[in-house]
Parts: sequence; structure tokens; C-alpha cells
Amino acid sequence: MKELAGKIKLTEKEISDYIDEANETLDRAYVPYSKFPVAALLIDQNGKKFKGVNVENASYGVGICAERNVIPTAVTEGMKKIKLLVVTGGTPEPISPCGACRQFISEFSDKDTVIILTNRDKKYKIWSIDELLPYSFGPEDL
Ligand code: THU
Repeated sequence: MKELAGKIKLTEKEISDYIDEANETLDRAYVPYSKFPVAALLIDQNGKKFKGVNVENASYGVGICAERNVIPTAVTEGMKKIKLLVVTGGTPEPISPCGACRQFISEFSDKDTVIILTNRDKKYKIWSIDELLPYSFGPEDL
């Protein structure tokens, strides 16, 4: 059992299964231009699961990242807080989310949110949102 200080507890098997599921979703990424698939698996405050991939467009700038694809879907279904987010890519190392996605994730995260960054080889590292986006701008700054 991995004890994630004050956060959800995940067994190695659960981590491994979530990573497998995220990796299985990678093939659904629509990436004809970059050929750089990304997939995100999100568990909300009620344990409800959502998945998203990056979806590109012939008008390149219109494409959307996997993280910013899954979060609006989850919000539409009642997600208030991200309990767990797994992000994976066809990268040699665990994927690194872009800055825009870090900001987007931050809106629905707190100190207990567990973020697992991984890749097809299941190499992974667990992060908090504060580690990924320190000194962030949030609703309390408005
Ligand atoms: N991409 C994501 O989906 N998430 C990230 O955090 C990094 C980048 C996508 C956008 C684009 O479709 C492709 O990866 C290459 O940048």
C-alpha cells in the first residue's frame, strides 16, 4: 500500500491498473499532425472515472490536450474535485503536462489530489499540484 500523506491510499495494483487503463486509451488520441498521443484518466470526489485524449485539428491551434479534454467532460457530469489524475504519453519518460494544462488541473485540485505522470512503459512518478504548479494563480487571488 502506498501511503500518500493525507491523500487517497492506492495499492501498487490499483496504480498499475489505472496506468494500464490510461495507456489503453492512448490509441484513441486523434493526433494526425503531431503523432504525439496523450491520455488522461480522472477519478472525481465520488470515485467516478473519466477518460480523455488529445484531439488535434487541421487548424493546428484549435487542438485540445488530453487533460483539458477530460476535465470539462468530468465537470459536466458533476466533478467538483480531482481525486486522482493519471496522464500518460508515448514518451520515453513520464509525460510532462503543458503549462496551460497545469493551470487547468489546478482549478479542480487541492493538496490531496494525486497526480500520476507516466508513459507506455509504466514508468511513473506521483506529484501534487503544488509541485507541478508552485505559487499558482487561483480563485483565491481574484
Ligand atoms: N499535449 C497534451 O495532450 N497534453 C499535454 O500536457 C502536452 C501536450 C498534446 C497537444 C498536442 O496534441 C500534442 O500533445 C503535441 O503537443
